[in-house]
Amino acid sequence: MPLALTPWHDPPTLLDLKSDEVHLWRFPLVCSDPLENLLDEQELQRAKRLRSPDKARAFVVARARLRQILSAYLDMEPQALRFSYGSAGKPALVGFVDSPAFNLAHSGNWGVCAVVGRGEVGVDVETINSALDYANLAQRFFSEAEKQWLQACPEPRRLRCFYRIWTRKEAWLKGKGGGFSDPEQDIGLAHLAGSCFCDGAWWLRSFPLARQSLATLALSQEFSLVQRWKAWPLSD
Ligand SMILES: CC(C)(COP(=O)(O)OP(=O)(O)OC[C@H]1O[C@@H](n2cnc3c(N)ncnc32)[C@H](O)[C@@H]1OP(=O)(O)O)[C@@H](O)C(=O)NCCC(=O)NCCS
Repeated sequence: MPLALTPWHDPPTLLDLKSDEVHLWRFPLVCSDPLENLLDEQELQRAKRLRSPDKARAFVVARARLRQILSAYLDMEPQALRFSYGSAGKPALVGFVDSPAFNLAHSGNWGVCAVVGRGEVGVDVETINSALDYANLAQRFFSEAEKQWLQACPEPRRLRCFYRIWTRKEAWLKGKGGGFSDPEQDIGLAHLAGSCFCDGAWWLRSFPLARQSLATLALSQEFSLVQRWKAWPLSD
């Protein structure tokens, strides 16, 4: 069954994460709200270590939004949530038996958070940069088959093809959690065509997140609908 996407809309006051739905939240990273008080000490230290003030601010906003989003499902204060980290850094919630799985990504002015009630999820977003030396990146990170697939894309569409492959690989690697250390980095040609594909293990869906940005969602189980919510704030 194809994975349908709703338009971006305002979230309801009471969230209901149905078993056949993915919730996908989009939020701007540029905002002047004081959000530091939502973060824990470890997160504040991480923000301090980031040299670029813009990157530090984007990290604070994304972490605060992640906490606010998850707390809306768990009936807890955002500050009270605790995270554990996988061997390659994938965050997960601590202290719940059946807590939702989630994944976060940020690029340019946008952050995105995917939430599911079962299975694993990965999400990636990239801002499309027409000056990017994508051939060099493809050379470094893509498999031979992926490079050939890119080369076969007609030139006017090749940049978009590059971002499709890139976000699909990243979302899939983030879903699995292993990142750069994952021994299986080759997504396989079948995952590159079409907008949604199942290989018996992972479902992938690519779509524009905003103008000039492309996102991909990777899901370890089958779902029928992606509810796309616009944030923020939830309670106003
Ligand atoms: C962290 C990583 C998984 C993604 O990095 P990125 O693209 O710079 O960043 P994104 O915005 O997509 O995602 C960052 C968020 O993912 C989450 N994350 C961190 N490590 C993760 C992991 N191993 N798996 C899943 N999610 C992870 C975190 O929430 C992080 O945000 P935070 O640090 O603000 O909390 C990256 O280190 C990585 O390993 N990427 C895949 C490797 C690769 O081969 N890429 C090239 C081919 S496409």
